[in-house]
Amino acid sequence: MDSLTITQPDDWHLHLRDGDQLISVIADTAARFGRAVVMPNLKPPVVSVAQALGYRERILAARPPGSAFEPLMTLYLTADTTPAQIQQVAATPQVVGVKLYPAGATTNSEAGVTSLDALTPVFEAMAEHAVPLLIHGETTDPNDDVFDREARFVDGALTRLHGRHPELKIVLEHITTADAVAWIGETGPRTAATVTAHHLLLNRNAIFSGGLRPHHYCLPVLKRERHREALVEAATSVANTGKYFLGTDSAPHSIANKHSACGCAGIYTAHAAIELYAEVFEAAGALDRLEAFASFHGPDFYGLPRNRVMLNLVREAWTVPETLSLGDELLVPLRAGERVRWRIAAQPS
Ligand code: DOR
Ligand code: ZN
Repeated sequence: MDSLTITQPDDWHLHLRDGDQLISVIADTAARFGRAVVMPNLKPPVVSVAQALGYRERILAARPPGSAFEPLMTLYLTADTTPAQIQQVAATPQVVGVKLYPAGATTNSEAGVTSLDALTPVFEAMAEHAVPLLIHGETTDPNDDVFDREARFVDGALTRLHGRHPELKIVLEHITTADAVAWIGETGPRTAATVTAHHLLLNRNAIFSGGLRPHHYCLPVLKRERHREALVEAATSVANTGKYFLGTDSAPHSIANKHSACGCAGIYTAHAAIELYAEVFEAAGALDRLEAFASFHGPDFYGLPRNRVMLNLVREAWTVPETLSLGDELLVPLRAGERVRWRIAAQPS
C-alpha cells in the first residue's frame, strides 16, 4: 500500500500554548487534524469556562486562513473547582473535559490536585453529567522511582478513584506502561486511554543514545522496550475495540528551555503526527486499523460525531527540518534532520 485514505483524524491530547507560540505551532495540527483536545496547562492555568472560551477564541483566530480546525477545550482541575462549574462545562459544548494534574507531576502542574478525596463532589457531578476526567497518571512522591510513577498511580490512586466513581468517564492520558494497558483492559467501557506517537516509537534508550538527548525527554518518561511493545499491541491490535485512541501530547518547548540545566519535559510531534503513527501501524502490519485508532475511537468515546472529510497519506519519505519556529525562538521537532516515511498529500479530498 503506497497511499492511504482515512477519515480525517483528531488529536485527543495536545499542547498549543498561547500568544506567539500558539501562532507558530497551530498550522501543523490544523493541516492534519479536524479537532484537538487542548490542554489547559497555561501560565496561569485555564480554570474557568470563561477562560476556556477566551482561549478558544485566540486559537480560532490563530488558525491558518480557511482552516476549519476545531479546538475542544478543557478545564484545569484545582482544589477550588466546584460542582457548579462542572454543570457549566456540561452546558458548554466547546468544553469537553476536565484535566487532572497531580500537583508537581509535570510542566505547569503546580496548581494541580493534592487530594482526590476533597474533590468527591466534583467527581460526582462529572459522573452525573458525563463530563470526562482526563488524567495525567503519575504519582508525585519524590521518593518514587521516576520510571515507576505511572504504574504506582494506576495501582493506587486511579484504582481507588475508579472504584469510588465507577460511572465517571476517565481518559488515562499518554499511557506508557503495560500496567496501564492492563488496567484499561480490566475496567469497563467508561475508561479509555490516549497513546502518543513517541511512546509507540521510542523506548527509554532514546533518552541516552550516544549522550543525553533532551528532545526525547517527556513526561511520563519513555519506558523500557517491553512497555513500548505493550502499547503498540494495545493501539494496533484487533482487540482495540475502542478504548485506545490518538493523542499526540505534542508539547513545544524552546531550544533554550530544553538545553538547560533543568530542561523542560515535552516532545514536539505535531509537524509529522499522523505520519509517525502511520509508521507505527505499518511496522505492526496494521495500517488497516490506523483509521479506527486515529479517527473513530476518540469521537465515539467523547460522544461526538466522526469527521466527514478525508485525509490522504502517501508513502513518500521526507526530511524533517532541524528546527521550527516557536514565537521568536526555535524548537527541535522529533526526527529533526531525519526521515519520516509517510507524508500527507497536499489536499484532503
Ligand atoms: O512531556 C510533557 N510535556 N508532559 C506533560 O505532561 C506536559 C507537557 C508540557 O506541557 O510541556
Ligand atoms: Zn500533555
